[in-house]
Amino acid sequence: MLSKTVEDALNKQINRELYSAYLYLAMSAYFETANMKGFAKWMRLQAKEEQVHAFKFYDFVIARGGKASLLPIEAPKAKWASAGKIFEEVYVHEQKVTGMINALVELAMKEKDHATFEMLQWFVKEQVEEEEHAIEILGKIKSIGDIPGHLFCLDHELGKRE
Ligand code: FEO
Repeated sequence: MLSKTVEDALNKQINRELYSAYLYLAMSAYFETANMKGFAKWMRLQAKEEQVHAFKFYDFVIARGGKASLLPIEAPKAKWASAGKIFEEVYVHEQKVTGMINALVELAMKEKDHATFEMLQWFVKEQVEEEEHAIEILGKIKSIGDIPGHLFCLDHELGKRE
């Protein structure tokens, strides 16, 4: 059984994961408009991953006899100055999410909730990958210069994501 404190914190995280999905879908839409189809596909798949994250928390709350409460999802912005600016934002966003996961781990420890602590270990590892992917793509954009023509090859590469 979940404590009310842990249940509320996990429900907030469902919302934050769904916001992440919304944010990445907005970035995908931006890339679609800019005719950068590879970037758009990569971001769309990233949005789907975030939905999977949200459902992991949702399923866990229910499995522990808790009540999944769905909070309003904030609208993401719709415009960015460049692909580089987008990936800078992704990196900052993922660092924030890592902070949220770490705070949940600390809460689970404080509440002596071993099951929640164990479930969160998947997210601890996942955040290492999430930050790594963002910084890797940001590094590539910086190395080729944030110029539309030069982004063509990277667009092609990112479009291969399955
Ligand atoms: Fe669900 Fe990208 O962290």
